[in-house]
Amino acid sequence: MGAGIVQVAAQKGYAVTMVDLDESSLERGKGIINSSLKRVAKKQFKDDEQKQSEFIKSTLSSIKTSTDLSKSAESADLIVEAIVENLQKKQKLFSSLDKIAPKDSIFASNTSSLPIIEIAKATDRTDKFAGLHFFNPVPQMKLVEVVKTESTSDETHHALMEFSKKLDKTPVTCKDTPGFIVNRLLVPYLLEAIRLVERGVATPGDVDTAMKLGAGMPMGPFELSDFVGLDTLKSIADGWREGGQVDSNLVVKIKTLDDLVRAGNLGRKTGKGFFSY
Ligand code: 3HC
Repeated sequence: MGAGIVQVAAQKGYAVTMVDLDESSLERGKGIINSSLKRVAKKQFKDDEQKQSEFIKSTLSSIKTSTDLSKSAESADLIVEAIVENLQKKQKLFSSLDKIAPKDSIFASNTSSLPIIEIAKATDRTDKFAGLHFFNPVPQMKLVEVVKTESTSDETHHALMEFSKKLDKTPVTCKDTPGFIVNRLLVPYLLEAIRLVERGVATPGDVDTAMKLGAGMPMGPFELSDFVGLDTLKSIADGWREGGQVDSNLVVKIKTLDDLVRAGNLGRKTGKGFFSY
C-alpha cells in the first residue's frame, strides 16, 4: 500500500520519498507504481500517447527512493507509515522518526488494525499524530479514513483532511477504535463468508457471484479476501480476538483460514488463496 500512497501523492505534485529497508523492496514498489501509472495515464489521456508519457514522467520525477530513513525524514512535512502490522516495529520506527523529523511535521500511520494512540505514544508529538487509512488499490479507491485519537489536535486533523482532498480522495473522520469504519464492518463479513462455506451452504464461487450480483459488490468476499491477503485478514481477526475489544463471536478462529495461511496460500500475492491466480 505504501507504493500506492506514494503514487497518489506524486500524481498531485507532492515531492515524495519512498523509504524501505532494502533496494529490492524499493524496486518492487517502483514496479507497482509503474504499472499502476500506465493504467491511470491511459484513463486520463485516452488517445494521447504523448500526454500519457508526460504524465508518467512528471509523476515519477516527484518520487525519490531511499533506504536512508534519517536523511529522508529530516525535512519531511508529513510522514505516512505503511510498514508491517506489528505494534513494536511501528513504535520503534516512530520513536526514531521523532528524533529526526522537524518538530512540526505530522506523523500518520496507515495501519488497518492497531490502535493509533499506542503507536503515537512512542513519540513526543501525540498531538501531531493520527491515522491515515487508505484502501487497496490506493490509486482507484476514493476513501481515506482520518483517525483522530484523544490526543490528535484539531489542526493535525484538519491538515490531514485537506491533504486527503488534495489527493482527490474523500476523507471521513473516525475515532481510534478497532477497524475504524470499513474494516470493523468488512472483516466480520469476510469471516462469516468463510464460515458459511465451512457449513456447506455454498461454494466460494457461488458466494462471490451472489454478493456481486445480489448485493452490488465489485468483488465477492472470497475474491476480496484473496485481494486483501489472507495473512492480513487472519492477523486482524486474531488481534481483535486476543485484544478482547471486539465481540469474540464475530472473530472466532476459522480452520480454513488458519490452514491456508499456514500453507503459505495468502491470496493473490502468492498466486493461491481461495482461488488460484
Ligand atoms: N491502479 C490504478 N487504477 C486501478 C488499479 C491500480 N492498481 N486497479 C484497478 N484500477 C482501476 C482501473 O483502471 C479501472 O478504472 P476505470 O473503471 O475508471 O476505467 C477500475 O480500477 C476498474 O479496474 P478493472 O476494470 O481492471 O477491474 P475491476 O472492474 O475488476 O476492478 C477493483 C478492480 C477496482 C479492484 C474492483 O474489483 C474493486 O473495487 N474491488 C473491491 C476493492 C476493495 O474493496 N478494496 C478495499 C479492500 S479493504 C482495504 O484495503 C483495507 C485494508 O486495511 C485491509
